[in-house]
Amino acid sequence: MKNVIIVGAGGHSKVAQECIQQQGEHKIVGILDNKFTAYEKIGEQFYAPFTDFEQFKNETDYWFIAIGDNKVRAKVAEQLGDVAYATIIHPTAIVSRTATIEPGSIIMPVTVVQPDAIIGRHTIINTGAIIEHDVIIAESAHISPRATITGGVKIGTCVHVGAAAVVNPQVQLGDYSIIGAGAVVTANTEPHQTYVGIPARKLEK
Ligand SMILES: CC(C)(COP(=O)(O)OP(=O)(O)OC[C@H]1O[C@@H](n2cnc3c(N)ncnc32)[C@H](O)[C@@H]1OP(=O)(O)O)[C@@H](O)C(=O)NCCC(=O)NCCS
Repeated sequence: MKNVIIVGAGGHSKVAQECIQQQGEHKIVGILDNKFTAYEKIGEQFYAPFTDFEQFKNETDYWFIAIGDNKVRAKVAEQLGDVAYATIIHPTAIVSRTATIEPGSIIMPVTVVQPDAIIGRHTIINTGAIIEHDVIIAESAHISPRATITGGVKIGTCVHVGAAAVVNPQVQLGDYSIIGAGAVVTANTEPHQTYVGIPARKLEK
């Protein structure tokens, strides 16, 4: 059993901790979040502000950033620098032997990740999502519950695909683009833009 420190103590962290416990490969030794004002040990776990992270670097085998916001998660990864990240896969996830799950990513309950898919670092594949064959996800993306990413789709950095959205085959989602819940994306998206509806259209600000 390897030790892991979790960064983030919000709603996404709650789900991530449940996954870690069910996976049974890591022991959560501490949780860092700036909502904690001072170090405190309760039972076998400590709680401390994230700003103190440097002092815990030698106390753990792995780190895991359990923050739902893609940009914040990516920024925290930058701050933590060269540390080892845990890869979390829930026991009910079906992950192809030829798929690649990069460190820092989490594959939640009842998801499917098909052959030759590549899930980049610090990505969330949320409950019930489907990642089809040959999908490539850059990093720090979030595929929300029950979203379907069909074959050959390419997803850029920090993309957020909303709950139950569908991305059609071979479509490319630009970096930082956001797909609304329930959308059907039939064409490539521009970076930093939001798309909603069926078929998905750019949300003009
Ligand atoms: C797309 C989304 C990001 C837009 O958020 P926003 O920028 O705050 O936009 P607003 O809520 O101000 O809505 C702007 C317009 O888009 C429409 N809209 C928002 N979300 C929509 C959606 N998913 N589908 C269709 N239309 C949508 C709104 O009705 C509004 O239309 P109007 O201007 O005609 O009134 C958000 O609504 C969404 O769907 N997020 C995904 C949430 C999710 O799945 N989270 C998973 C967590 S695990």
